[in-house]
Amino acid sequence: MEGSRGCNPVLVLCLVFATIVPLSMANNHNTALATIRPHGKKNRGCVAYNPIDKCWRCDRHWAKNRKRLANCAKGFGHGTNGGKKGRFYVVNDSSDKNVISPKPGTLRHAVLLPEPLWIIFSGSMDIRLTQELIFTSHKTIDGRGFEVHVSGGAGFMLQFVRNVIIHGLHMYDIVEGSGGMIRSKHDHVGIRGRSDGDAISIFRSSQIWVDHCSFANSYDGLIDIVAASTNITISNCHFVQHDKALLFGASDKTPEDKILKVTLAYNHFGKGLTQRLPAMRFGFVHVVNNDYTEWHSYAIGGADGATIISQGNRFVAADGACKEVTKRMLVPESIWRKWTWRSEGDLLLNGAYFRESGNPHWAKTYKGYPLIPALPAKDVPRLTKLVRVDARC
Ligand SMILES: *[C@@H]1O[C@H](CO)[C@@H](O)[C@H](O)[C@H]1NC(C)=O
Ligand SMILES: *[C@@H]1O[C@H](CO)[C@@H](O)[C@H](O)[C@H]1NC(C)=O
Repeated sequence: MEGSRGCNPVLVLCLVFATIVPLSMANNHNTALATIRPHGKKNRGCVAYNPIDKCWRCDRHWAKNRKRLANCAKGFGHGTNGGKKGRFYVVNDSSDKNVISPKPGTLRHAVLLPEPLWIIFSGSMDIRLTQELIFTSHKTIDGRGFEVHVSGGAGFMLQFVRNVIIHGLHMYDIVEGSGGMIRSKHDHVGIRGRSDGDAISIFRSSQIWVDHCSFANSYDGLIDIVAASTNITISNCHFVQHDKALLFGASDKTPEDKILKVTLAYNHFGKGLTQRLPAMRFGFVHVVNNDYTEWHSYAIGGADGATIISQGNRFVAADGACKEVTKRMLVPESIWRKWTWRSEGDLLLNGAYFRESGNPHWAKTYKGYPLIPALPAKDVPRLTKLVRVDARC
């Protein structure tokens, strides 16, 4: 999705950081149990700064009531309850040696079981996936209480699935999987090509909620949403050190992606990011109350008539970077001025500007869409405060 012209500063520094930061993240484990607590010990000093966190985080018995999280998705991913109806499955083994008959206790064994499952962890762990991890429907991965890192190997593949929650993971340094024979369902093993090297790839899937995860430095994208996937929320996540971060709609030749609907809420887009925060083709993205503190080329891009509604975000342009928040790909203004890209109540700082186009009365057209009501943009640092705490990088 490169534009042929425009602003593209060089990124050497970020790439250097990209290899250093994630490595040091991995060394934080021993303190994890002592320090990671979703709330204060006796619930005193409990903090939940935004409506999604308020839904579960101040329950002092959160660890006994983990499934309460299943009622907390908002925006297009609302109603996603993952493994709520299933039993708990405790991952107690970080290995991933056998991708055809995975060992009980591994994450791969858990995500392939046919029934709904609420997957938790026995302790902090580093998981290096030898091949892409192919999900099945109705799963929650719940990393709360521990530091669970997925890094140095392949990423997650959600294809032809629905109803998945991914919460509380650190994903970074994701590389391509070589492909080969991989189990993709409890009763199916097939030959797979190389995986792309996205941290999370969502393909023809719906009802997905990614919350409180941190992402950095992967071979391809951080999160790709393609092939008519829809009803997805990405919230409370921390993104750093990556060039092309979030791609929604992979090609100009897939108008089926008009169905694509994504909410981005309460995320922090931080150090070392260049572009695609996100880039959307065809579909509808609601960008609400996010904190953008660094982008080098552009923050929000799009093509093919994508609709972008930006409300109550804080955009702080970095010194020496491009100041324009938006970027339209490869078409003249006579075409893109019909695309609905609106900025309402955004706080634009240090020279940042958002180039609007299209229908100012969009709200009438999209009546009934589950849009999270925007809070004032000046409150965004507070609304996203725990993202930085939980991400620790
Ligand atoms: C790990 O979990 C698996 C699957 O639930 C179980 O069969 C196994 O006994 C567990 N191992 C340990 C050491 O707890
Ligand atoms: C997406 O959500 C809408 C509204 O809740 C629903 O009507 C539609 O069927 C969902 N689409 C898919 C593919 O789940």
